Amino acid sequence: MTYRPIEVPERTRLNVILTEGDRRIVMLAGEISEDERHLFQEVATEAQPDVRFSFPSFPSDNDSRAFILLVRTEAIGFRCDWPDVNPKGAEAQTGYQQRWAIRIIWIAPPCRRRGFITYLIGRTLVHLDEIPSEVAWHRPLTDEGKIIASRHSPERIFVV
Ligand SMILES: CC(C)(COP(=O)(O)OP(=O)(O)OC[C@H]1O[C@@H](n2cnc3c(N)ncnc32)[C@H](O)[C@@H]1OP(=O)(O)O)[C@@H](O)C(=O)NCCC(=O)NCCS
Repeated sequence: MTYRPIEVPERTRLNVILTEGDRRIVMLAGEISEDERHLFQEVATEAQPDVRFSFPSFPSDNDSRAFILLVRTEAIGFRCDWPDVNPKGAEAQTGYQQRWAIRIIWIAPPCRRRGFITYLIGRTLVHLDEIPSEVAWHRPLTDEGKIIASRHSPERIFVV
């Protein structure tokens, strides 16, 4: 499938959590606007052939969150998280009941190997106050996904 750039019109209402030069990061969580739902769908549709498993459109409840990276007026990548919920009682051993795990990372093919996912993960970790070595990654991981996960958590990758 040929990659189709995702243009984001100026008037689009988005929850921008960071602006740095020509880059913006949008966070989608909880109740999101129609504009945001539409943008998520566009990015997910472009990403779908690259990630080898199917994922739904952004749900209306609180059980996922996503971050979209814009460069100027183009959406070029995203990070999408799913909750990792511990079975009842297991939190005593593991110290958590629920945490977020990175499910999908994706950068538009023409923009790869320019540090964009490193930037997106790095900035969102800071925003969320997350410790890189404690970030969890959801199965299945592609080969490229494993490379990125091990760069962010060099000692041990938590795969859930
Ligand atoms: C995985 C992906 C998000 C990486 O995004 P990216 O912006 O190109 O990654 P970066 O430029 O930040 O890469 C950082 C480093 O990771 C390593 N790396 C990234 N992609 C790599 C590849 N295809 N092969 C080998 N090493 C790779 C390199 O060391 C790179 O640094 P360098 O370019 O200075 O050598 C992108 O390739 C992608 O969207 N792939 C398809 C979707 C996918 O597989 N997602 C993962 C599982 S859901």
